[in-house]
Amino acid sequence: MKPTLKIITLFAFLSTLANCKGLDETDRIQNDVPANNIRPVGGGCDGCKLMYVDMPETIQATDTSAGWDETGQKLLIQGTVYKKGGKVPATDVIIYYWQTDNDGYYSPKKGMGEGAKRHGHIRGWVKTDVSGNYSIFTIRPAPYPNEDMPAHIHTSIKEPNIADEYYIDEFVFDDDPLLTRKKTEARENRGGSGILHITTVDELQVANHNIFLGLHIPNYPD
Ligand SMILES: [Fe+2]
Repeated sequence: MKPTLKIITLFAFLSTLANCKGLDETDRIQNDVPANNIRPVGGGCDGCKLMYVDMPETIQATDTSAGWDETGQKLLIQGTVYKKGGKVPATDVIIYYWQTDNDGYYSPKKGMGEGAKRHGHIRGWVKTDVSGNYSIFTIRPAPYPNEDMPAHIHTSIKEPNIADEYYIDEFVFDDDPLLTRKKTEARENRGGSGILHITTVDELQVANHNIFLGLHIPNYPD
């Protein structure tokens, strides 16, 4: 073998060894992988950490939001959270929710943690009980003024055995004229469909809504 060919062969061999070590720095940045090469469950999200701002030490399976005593259509969202696979109820799963008020604004209130003000004052937490159940008493959020985005309630999840918090599909309403077919088809279905089916009991609107952990959640552990 000629000396030049030997050098090329050696370089190719060393390159192969380097690739076997995994992602190099450029690959890591291009693939949005943190320095420890562990991808966050759910892929990370803007604002999910705000669930910890003003979070109470004890969280019940039922929560009544600040909106309940304000003007607006009263709404109960209740259901069961299931573990991956969809059959076994998941206990001690925290669901954090935040929503607009009856005018379509994330309106902050005095005394709120500074970082959480962008989520408005109608926010809260529930933690699933031994049967995986949760209930949220709140009001229907109004859509953003002068926009065509459907009215929605944001939700993020913190599971007891997963370090990362992550978002699931925001709750929207099947009777909302702004929820077009195109917008429905564009939804990610993270945790299952977030489209709430509304029934009315006396003057209360009720949505029975189950959540399926791991469904369409990137990097979710097996
Ligand atoms: Fe929003």
